[in-house]
Amino acid sequence: MRTPFIAANWKMHKTVAETVTFVTEFRGLVKDIKDVEIVVAPPFTALHAAAEAARNSNVGIAAQNLYWERQGAFTGEISAPMIREAGAAYGIIGHSERRTLFGETDASVNRRIAAAFAERLTPIVCIGETLDQRERNETFAVLDRQIKQGFDGVTADEMAKLVIAYEPVWAIGTGRNATPAQASEAHGHIRARLLQWFGGEAAGRCRIIYGGSVKPDNTAALLSQPDVDGALVGGASMDVRDFFAIVSRGRREAV
Ligand code: PGA
Repeated sequence: MRTPFIAANWKMHKTVAETVTFVTEFRGLVKDIKDVEIVVAPPFTALHAAAEAARNSNVGIAAQNLYWERQGAFTGEISAPMIREAGAAYGIIGHSERRTLFGETDASVNRRIAAAFAERLTPIVCIGETLDQRERNETFAVLDRQIKQGFDGVTADEMAKLVIAYEPVWAIGTGRNATPAQASEAHGHIRARLLQWFGGEAAGRCRIIYGGSVKPDNTAALLSQPDVDGALVGGASMDVRDFFAIVSRGRREAV
């Protein structure tokens, strides 16, 4: 049985002060929820403050990206050891905004995954097709390429530990979520590939979460699909009550 995994991706939103206010209230709201792994990803500037505010709670903290070198002349980049020291235990890797706006590729995603594991950070790796690709019936081919190249060299044991976020690009920030049937089909395909390429143990344990316009009112329908193990939430995670509602509806007994 996989523990549901629900993460907030705040993108370039929230100051240090706003982060501390959110986490302080949120940890109180979710304190009795034991059956969901709950994660918040603030911007880098608020990472340490978030980790301090979440200390000794059931709220984990994620970075939104990480660079693969440990240190060096890489102006503007942040390394996995720096993220670990700031108090985060997770790192989002390969979000579609990183891929489309900042030129990240499956090859760079692959290096970031290795760097995260070297620092014992749990990678949350985003994959998903664009609208054009879906309309050309290339969704499965795109997912296959992203899995094959992005996870090249990842061991079965690592695969069991990491989290895959299936985020169709056309559903991100658009208010147009994938239907439960579309999500189910894509998640089922991803899990079948994990089985084929990484074995039964990895395929059975890896959490595959859905992202793209998740809101309190569509959470239960999406997360009730057998291969949908949680959610990566952007817009609706910025409001503490909305994100709490999503986490509550993502619990195993709620779906
Ligand atoms: P959204 O973003 O919930 O605002 O669509 C999801 C994401 O980008 O992870």
